[in-house]
Amino acid sequence: MAYNVTAIVGARPNYMKVAPIWRALDGRDDVTRTLVHTGQHYDENMSKIFFDDLQLPRPDVYLGVGSGPHGAQTGRVMTELEVVFGKNRPDILIVVGDVNSTMAGALAAVKMGIPVAHVEAGLRSFDREMPEEINRMVTDVVSDLLFTTSKEAEPNLLREGVDIEKIHFVGNVMIDSLDFYRPMAEQSQILGQVGVEKSRYGLVTLHRPTNVDDPSVLKGVLGALEKIGETCPLVFPVHPRTRNMMKENKIEVTESRIKILNPIGYLDFVKLMMNARIVLTDSGGIQEETTVLGIPCLTIRENTERPVTVEIGTNRLVGMNPDRIVDEGVKILGGDVPPGKIPERWDGKAAPRIVQVLDEYGNE
Ligand code: UD1
Repeated sequence: MAYNVTAIVGARPNYMKVAPIWRALDGRDDVTRTLVHTGQHYDENMSKIFFDDLQLPRPDVYLGVGSGPHGAQTGRVMTELEVVFGKNRPDILIVVGDVNSTMAGALAAVKMGIPVAHVEAGLRSFDREMPEEINRMVTDVVSDLLFTTSKEAEPNLLREGVDIEKIHFVGNVMIDSLDFYRPMAEQSQILGQVGVEKSRYGLVTLHRPTNVDDPSVLKGVLGALEKIGETCPLVFPVHPRTRNMMKENKIEVTESRIKILNPIGYLDFVKLMMNARIVLTDSGGIQEETTVLGIPCLTIRENTERPVTVEIGTNRLVGMNPDRIVDEGVKILGGDVPPGKIPERWDGKAAPRIVQVLDEYGNE
């Protein structure tokens, strides 16, 4: 039976999750696809560059909601989406990850009787101070199809009352993208452009409100990174939230230890990750990507919704205490590298599994 599917993207980590699903639907005359970009992220290097790198088709609909407080941003996405859904009446809405656009999309759809499929369901940090944790819980509870990346997601969902029939352990679409785009990333010239050599630098990302919104925490973390940068220079593409906080609070770093870059595209970032000696991050997706690449990763957070990357991958959770970050960094640079295994079904085939479930759902 033919069906009509709409997918929502809004923020940087969404694009590489939708790309493999869209590709798995290529050439399907029986499936009508609509890609909606909410405009939560709008700078060229937070949005357009990813469409180019991932060869994603331009969005069919662009909402242009922009930045704002949580309620305003979520409300604007819902208001705009009601109009879009009223016109195109999708048979199913796909939302990915845990950003505000994800939750807003799911809520707008379920209230209009449109079934929701959540890709990356059931991740829990058990930290309700994270806006993403609220987005994950709300999205999961209203979704009809819950696609999980790892086994521990299932008990998390069952505990919250989700029907087991709705849960599908399909694997990790981020890894579909990593596998697919890796040969293209190999061609990137970013190492030479930045002036670093393979295995002789570390890579940093930092953008979580808990790390960057409080200037004293941000200063402490950057101070720890500077110390690590004395022995191993760090490359740091800076998220706009972090850049704004550094600027407002006049926080600076030593260029020879930490090379500051503007946000970069997916292919350049993958190239930098693949060749790094160490990655230090507070991102969710990077914990997963480094696990698959076998690159040691220190996660600068008190908790993670992706425990499998610590249990069997190359990730270590080090918290935000500067001394601890330095100690753990020194260990890795001294060769104490966590041995890593690749989690089950992170095999580059998650998107075809998702499409198979969508097809069955459409035929019910
Ligand atoms: C959002 C997600 C977070 C995700 C991150 C990836 C939520 C609640 N958070 O956080 O889960 O890990 O994206 O990047 O959805 N800004 C720009 N240009 C842009 C986008 C943002 O300058 O294109 C600045 C604005 O000052 C804005 C701030 O960054 O206020 C924060 O943007 P926002 O989308 O609210 O949250 P992120 O921190 O990006």
